[in-house]
Amino acid sequence: MYVKSTPPATNHSLAMSILESHLKGALRPDFSWGYATAAAQIEGAWNVDGKGESIWDRLGHTPGKIKDSSTADDATRAYDFYKEDVALMKSYGVRAYRFSLAWSRIIPLGGKDDPVNPKGIEFYNNLINELIANGIVPFVTLFHWDIPQALEDRYGGMLNKEKYTPDFLRYARVCFEAFGDRVKNWITYNEPGVYSLAGYAAGVHAPGRSSNRELNEEGDSSTEPFIVSHTELVSHAYCVKMYREDFKPTQKGTIMITLHGNYSTPWDDTDPLDIEAAQRAREFEIAWFGDPVYKTGDYPASMRAQLGDRLPRFTEEESKLVLGSSDFYGMNSYTTFFVKHKKTPPEPKDHVGNVEKLDTNSKGESRGPESDTYWLRTNPWGLRQLLNWIWNRYKVPIFMTENGTTAKGEHVDAPPSEDILNDKHRIEFFNGYLNALAGAVKEDGVDIRSYFVWTFTDNWEWAAGYTDRFGVTWIDYNSPEKKRYPKKSATVVRELFEHLIAKE
Ligand code: BGC
Repeated sequence: MYVKSTPPATNHSLAMSILESHLKGALRPDFSWGYATAAAQIEGAWNVDGKGESIWDRLGHTPGKIKDSSTADDATRAYDFYKEDVALMKSYGVRAYRFSLAWSRIIPLGGKDDPVNPKGIEFYNNLINELIANGIVPFVTLFHWDIPQALEDRYGGMLNKEKYTPDFLRYARVCFEAFGDRVKNWITYNEPGVYSLAGYAAGVHAPGRSSNRELNEEGDSSTEPFIVSHTELVSHAYCVKMYREDFKPTQKGTIMITLHGNYSTPWDDTDPLDIEAAQRAREFEIAWFGDPVYKTGDYPASMRAQLGDRLPRFTEEESKLVLGSSDFYGMNSYTTFFVKHKKTPPEPKDHVGNVEKLDTNSKGESRGPESDTYWLRTNPWGLRQLLNWIWNRYKVPIFMTENGTTAKGEHVDAPPSEDILNDKHRIEFFNGYLNALAGAVKEDGVDIRSYFVWTFTDNWEWAAGYTDRFGVTWIDYNSPEKKRYPKKSATVVRELFEHLIAKE
């Protein structure tokens, strides 16, 4: 059952007026909340202090690949202003901060025999220490899409599981050794599925490979995304085995993988073929990774039936290692789609289960208010359904590691007006989603232990460049110091959590 939230008011007491009294204290006292970021999207300093080139540096410097022709050379300059950022985050009341490490800052050439960059280690030590000194718990992602370019050049990166895995393991070992005394919450991969689909099927993300020869010189969209995802799953499992054997006994941390997943709901909920199609879409998107890790040690039957030998097979050893290789369910989710079955057989380039994903259903109802991002619409109902679906399928405690939205009209000159900073669309999004999450905990019994807002400040949204502003902090990209202006949503999120988290 989903209780509809009351529509928010627009005055300054907005946050208070949208708190649903029956959900007060719904979340556990040790619930972790804060903001999530990724190195390549915020740090800048792309070639400073010994950092090596990543595939996103390469793509950003290739003409025609980024919507606004921008690069992440400076991004928000989080590398330079980490102390100011930690102070601002503290003022936002967070308990935790999820960020990623740039592999090529730590090992510039990436490989197992390549030198470690002391300046890279120093930067992350400083950041971790600053967080801890301010009472903020670090959640650290090893891989958020920025593989060192050298590994891509040497052997094709993740297309080569045998060569790639030892390199990833050595990088992870360096990180556990350097930071594991203070970092107790590790995430191996961020969204392995988006990395492989956007980078190797659509070819719009780094490393930019696909079957589309107008866009990419090389690649095969019908096989490579599945090969790359397989590499991610297997190398994740070996990494977790290493952590559990060599580090966990002394460091006592936890380790998980973060999966992407939006909700798919039938276009016509009376048509058994659409009901089946929605389930198949969830399996192609989520169970692709979820089943091997939490349920069976293998890919879902629906994927094998459609993809045959294009879907790699786990060896017996890999399957055993992958199953149970994540302490928790790391979950990123943003939106919901209506899903309609197709009447034609699946094409080789299909990755979604031979379905159509639509904005309106058979009754003409919309999947939600539009954001400033074409695929993203507000739909808290879908989040609640999805939390239940994941919980019922896997029964593993969920850590939400990303959720957030863009809002129209934020591309203005500095200084932004009060009206722009009063980001009503984003406030309504968080109000809806956080009430849905709390409802899933309190009324449906789903075990949810964290929530990280995407994201702290506006940042470099990959191939969309600076055209998507996801932050609760507005950035003036024209100012040398990338001046930060807090949006109203930062206050509202804090007030929502003050209301929703139970007191000790
Ligand atoms: C990614 C983020 C990205 C966000 C918004 C997630 O898929 O992990 O890096 O910025 O979505 O598109």
